[in-house]
Amino acid sequence: MKVLVTGAGGRIGTHLCHLLLAQGHDVRAFGVVDDPNLLALGPAGAEVVTGDLERPETLTDAVSGVDAVCHLAAALTTHDVSDDRYVDVNLRGTFNVLEAARRGAPDLQRFVYTSSDAVYWSTAATDGPIDETHALLPGTVYGATKVGAELLCRSFWQTYGIPFTTMRPTATANPAELIRADSVFGRRWFLQSAISWYSARVAPSPVETSLLTALLAADDGTEKLFALVNPDGVSSLSSFGDARDAAAGMRAMIEPAAAIGEAFNIGPATPHSDRELVEYIGERLGLPVVEIRHAAARPTWNISSQKAQDRLDYRPTRSVFTMIDEAVAQLAATGGRPA
Ligand SMILES: NC(=O)c1ccc[n+]([C@@H]2O[C@H](COP(=O)([O-])OP(=O)(O)OC[C@H]3O[C@@H](n4cnc5c(N)ncnc54)[C@H](O)[C@@H]3O)[C@@H](O)[C@H]2O)c1
Repeated sequence: MKVLVTGAGGRIGTHLCHLLLAQGHDVRAFGVVDDPNLLALGPAGAEVVTGDLERPETLTDAVSGVDAVCHLAAALTTHDVSDDRYVDVNLRGTFNVLEAARRGAPDLQRFVYTSSDAVYWSTAATDGPIDETHALLPGTVYGATKVGAELLCRSFWQTYGIPFTTMRPTATANPAELIRADSVFGRRWFLQSAISWYSARVAPSPVETSLLTALLAADDGTEKLFALVNPDGVSSLSSFGDARDAAAGMRAMIEPAAAIGEAFNIGPATPHSDRELVEYIGERLGLPVVEIRHAAARPTWNISSQKAQDRLDYRPTRSVFTMIDEAVAQLAATGGRPA
């Protein structure tokens, strides 16, 4: 199979390209021109095509003759981009890929679109697992662009016969990102990193401004972690996935006919407690943990990937704790320098 992977140099895309190459598929890796991770896929065996989702003319060569498209490229919340960017890249950009595929890939067998668990944001007031039957009620512009793009894919299926499948990953990281203060995930529990992030927010919400005050009050200038719990001291459950498992999940969606028109959550086998996660990192790195009680603590966020496990060849093999163990072992092997 010839597979186009957009966002190929990204966290999930890189693993997906390597997985497909290892299975003997032809991979066309698409991404922005200055992405070193994308360029590194060339020597690994992929055909590298550079371009921009917002410039439709750059997508013509990318889609030409492919059997499947795995569309991962997007503007993410982790980068603090503007709402305009979410609309331009995630909504218009997805339209551009679909339109290019309609014109240039007449034999396309599958278009796998990467949505997000952000589509469920406003329905999360539940302690139970959030599955694909939950209403799509995003609470952010990012989430709304993901719902909109899902509907665009469905429309292209109904109108033009492009068979699509939707992947909805939960928070997804490479292991090293969990223990690095400067990573987009590290700022969820490294105190000074969080202070820097919230201090630099262009348009912080009132809750974020109040959280920053609480974080600053806990800072004594030494490196420490914080466990964010609700005002009653209760820690939520969260879902956190490994980027290699997410890539395997997407791979599992490319071929089965039963996946056409379906959406699948992708995440770990079980959720974890936020407090346990932070305490585990603290133990492994030898850092103290402070508790911060604040209304900014996320509600329980237990994304179920049971449907993918039941209906696809998807078996998440890592937990957030095994990811941390792996990252700490990597750090030790590199003499304390990030790998
Ligand atoms: N990582 C997560 O926590 C998470 C959670 C839910 C959903 N997702 C979704 O999964 C997908 C992949 O996420 P990731 O974690 O690998 O992200 P990533 O930021 O590592 O990768 C995104 C890739 O898209 C590329 N890209 C961005 N704008 C582009 C444009 N205009 N033209 C071409 N390429 C462009 C970037 O260069 C990057 O390589 C995204 O669609 C994201 O919304 C990710």
